[in-house]
Amino acid sequence: CDTIKYSDTGALHVGTFDAAADIVAAYQTPLYVYSLDNILAAHARIRDAYAAHHSNVSIHFSLKANANFTIVKALVQAGCGLDCVSAGEVFKALLCGCPADHIVFAGVGKSQEELEYAVSRGIGWFNVENELELSYLNDLAAQHTDTKVKIALRLNPDVQANTHPSIATGHGGAKFGLPIDVVQRILGATEKYPHLHFEGLHVHIGSQLGDTSPTQRAVAVALDIVRPFPFVKCLNIGGGMPVSYDNTVKPDPNSFAAAVCPLLQNYHVMLEPGRSIVASSGILVCKVLYRKDQAGQKIIVVDASMTDIMRPALYSAYHAVVPLQRALPDEATEVFSVVGPVCETTDVLAKNVTLPERCGHPGQLLALMTTGAYGFVMANNYNARPLVPQVVVHNGQLRLSTKRQTFEDLIRDELDQ
Ligand code: LLP
Repeated sequence: CDTIKYSDTGALHVGTFDAAADIVAAYQTPLYVYSLDNILAAHARIRDAYAAHHSNVSIHFSLKANANFTIVKALVQAGCGLDCVSAGEVFKALLCGCPADHIVFAGVGKSQEELEYAVSRGIGWFNVENELELSYLNDLAAQHTDTKVKIALRLNPDVQANTHPSIATGHGGAKFGLPIDVVQRILGATEKYPHLHFEGLHVHIGSQLGDTSPTQRAVAVALDIVRPFPFVKCLNIGGGMPVSYDNTVKPDPNSFAAAVCPLLQNYHVMLEPGRSIVASSGILVCKVLYRKDQAGQKIIVVDASMTDIMRPALYSAYHAVVPLQRALPDEATEVFSVVGPVCETTDVLAKNVTLPERCGHPGQLLALMTTGAYGFVMANNYNARPLVPQVVVHNGQLRLSTKRQTFEDLIRDELDQ
């Protein structure tokens, strides 16, 4: 990330702000810090990469990756649409000023109430994964609108993505999408749904994709299906563009655009990137509480945990851990496990981390890198841990975007107080 880096004095900075002296001093730890400048640059890079290969592309940021209002509002202002997977996300998207027709409502299990909420607010597109859902939508469209509701059927193309099994979605065994024969049958009998317009086909084969060829294969499968149905004008190719968590080189947006756009020249292309817009622009800053040397391990206990960042516990995901004050070239180092305080054996944030010896001392400040996607959005209150604050750096300004929860917030919904 261009805007999260060490300064000449070795202090980690987010934009012009010193993470320790300016940000932790003001808001304590643990906390998330984002560079909105970098997020907007990532969005622009994706937009420009696709624009170089195709004249009709719409980007819908996947709100599930990061639903921070300061960030989402800025993306909406930059012309980005939003991809939502619950009525709650649709509610947030509208509050952030996203025009209803720039919202896609996707999801494997939308309830009738959620569908009604979205149809009555004029949501632009529904990615549909179930025939019963189509009848619900057809009835709701008849009740609530004069125009047809736009549908993209979600296809399960039965393609293996090159990614972690927990975040692959396009193979035949996954719960997502409709099989090829069902999509063909529905597209051949659209008259059953007079209030729906079957304008698109949707494929999303997984997240953090290691290469572009499975996406190409999925697009080829989709094109074979839609060719006999010229009313299908749009292909939504989902999200999935990867980021590098460990400095290995990953295919960039331009590689994806170059791989798929030539296949799609006669179609409106829709994208739903999440991770590739926000991941590298966020850090989770935490403080060392204790050191424990036991069972042959050097363990650092920090004040952030799996409740703040679930990815390591859930997917064995790797996040680099760095000291806020950079290691000197000749500084003695040790190899640590970095763990959180939660009462779960899996509450390990990182293993085998080489850090300066001093990082074993209470009070030292560390950052978990590349935590801008699927970080705070997956946080929870397990062990009665209040959610941590989120701070956004943009245009030379530091802004507290969400505040740290209090103990009162933890019991807000208890009716037996
Ligand atoms: N579209 C659909 C239909 C999706 O299911 C997803 C992500 C996206 C778009 C956005 O994908 P992205 O561009 O972010 O790869 N919590 C996991 C990732 C779950 C992804 C869920 N779907 C993680 O932390 O790796």
